[in-house]
Amino acid sequence: MWQYFMPTKILFSQKVIEKNKEIFKKFGKKTLIITGKTSSRINGSLRDVEDALRSLSIEYYIYDKIDENPTFEHIRQAVKECRIHDFDFVIGVGGGSPLDSAKAIAVLLKNKSLSVEDLYDATKYDSSLPIIAIPTTSGTGSEVTQYSVLTDDTGFKRGFAHDVIFPIIALIDPLYTVSMSVSLTRSTGLDALCHAVEGFLSKRSTPISDLYAVEAMKMIKENLPRVLQNQNDLEARTAMSFASCLAGMVISQTSTTLAHVLGYPLSTFKGIRHGDATAAFLDAVVQGAQSEVPQKVNVVKEIFGDIRDFITASGLQIKLRIDDEELEGWVKRALTAKHMQWTRGSFDESSIKKLYERMRSN
Ligand SMILES: [Fe+2]
Repeated sequence: MWQYFMPTKILFSQKVIEKNKEIFKKFGKKTLIITGKTSSRINGSLRDVEDALRSLSIEYYIYDKIDENPTFEHIRQAVKECRIHDFDFVIGVGGGSPLDSAKAIAVLLKNKSLSVEDLYDATKYDSSLPIIAIPTTSGTGSEVTQYSVLTDDTGFKRGFAHDVIFPIIALIDPLYTVSMSVSLTRSTGLDALCHAVEGFLSKRSTPISDLYAVEAMKMIKENLPRVLQNQNDLEARTAMSFASCLAGMVISQTSTTLAHVLGYPLSTFKGIRHGDATAAFLDAVVQGAQSEVPQKVNVVKEIFGDIRDFITASGLQIKLRIDDEELEGWVKRALTAKHMQWTRGSFDESSIKKLYERMRSN
């Protein structure tokens, strides 16, 4: 038995906002734009949204204080500030952090009695303000998922899932990704790679998610080196935006697995970008799946050869000082993470510890 549900309408094109601006009209007269401090201004996406809204006489308020790895406290602050207005819909503009924040904020503005913690109990709500997602990186896939990952009050990343936070519309314009730095291009590209490979090898994979995953892997193999070589290669940028969206649709069905679980603490406690932190463990996902689904592992190998070599060739190298105590905490946390149940292979305390030890410099 398998099923497929991904209700987001995707519009994909250069100048996608300009060409489709009428689409905002049906969601109401007043909107909240959630974005980060600078990138949406540099890549032109915020200006395009503002131009479209102004031309339609839609009132808007910009909340642009979203940092990387948004915390519960950030969300509380944002909701407090934005609650004084009455919004009809929410537009998230940026990478994974603004998009995931937009999802949380959209639910909390619609359901005024909920706290951030309540987002993690799906039975407590069944509605959200409509969400329009405009990704400006190519990696997160958040524009087509029902997930939002936030950092809780103890510093750990925790994702929540709910069908009501699937964006109603994803407006994808590869032109916005051209201004990404080499390091952000690599990190986001590796994030998309992890989504495709983890999803493909997940115990929750389906015939449809596998089709998307294989296509996404092929596109990333071909085009990630190209965009790292030449950031202005628009053909390759377009392919990466498409691959990222496909890989997002994969995890909307399969969820992520071990590499995401192990990567999270590196981002919140060591400041390593999400895609880099996650890709550092992707070879373990492939190895873990070897005995259970050897034919699928062969597909991955046929595309990438040794996935570790492909990742290293992108320039990823992580060396960190990790205290014994924090290492123990990360391992303990990983062992109880929900996503481990969909990871193939057997990972215990000592094998997870070894994976972290590989990047230890002390
Ligand atoms: Fe990710």
